[in-house]
Amino acid sequence: MKQKEKNPVLTGFMGSGKTTVGIRLSYRLRRPVEDTDRLIERREGLRISEIFAEKGEAYFRERETELLRELGARKYPCVYSVGGGTPVNPENRALLKGLGTVVYLRVRPETVYERLRGDTTRPLLQCDNPLERIRGLIESRREAYEACADVILDVDDMEIEEISDRIILYVR
Ligand code: S3P
Repeated sequence: MKQKEKNPVLTGFMGSGKTTVGIRLSYRLRRPVEDTDRLIERREGLRISEIFAEKGEAYFRERETELLRELGARKYPCVYSVGGGTPVNPENRALLKGLGTVVYLRVRPETVYERLRGDTTRPLLQCDNPLERIRGLIESRREAYEACADVILDVDDMEIEEISDRIILYVR
């Protein structure tokens, strides 16, 4: 009989590929993907950028933690993908661990900068010097990302399929 597979829980900075890899894993593992940013947007009826602008970052962070608590109570197999800032809060780190195998998709600041150049959907990167902001945020979050990761993948030069292959090996 096939052994129970764990749920992949994708973490990593903005632009690390969590959403794309999540969709690919969902297809390959035949289970739904739960993306916390999208769930929060749906519930609030607002885009992330609108939530930040109208209600503030603290409000968004509360919704994130609340949602993780709820997801922890669900019993069906999923692929989880969470916002880039989720692991910063220690309570969230514990909640992420409870969801499954936490996979940190690690990227270099330059990769993020190239991938998200011109993006307007990330409120934290709307500034005069996004590369400096990216560097600062990645550095300040480094310990948090690493502390809750079961697996760390350096994904700058990896294709989606290769990342998915590696993650599937870890959850089986
Ligand atoms: C954030 C990352 C975003 C989103 C919000 C804040 C962050 O998610 O949750 O804009 O603090 O890094 P993605 O990593 O999916 O872009």
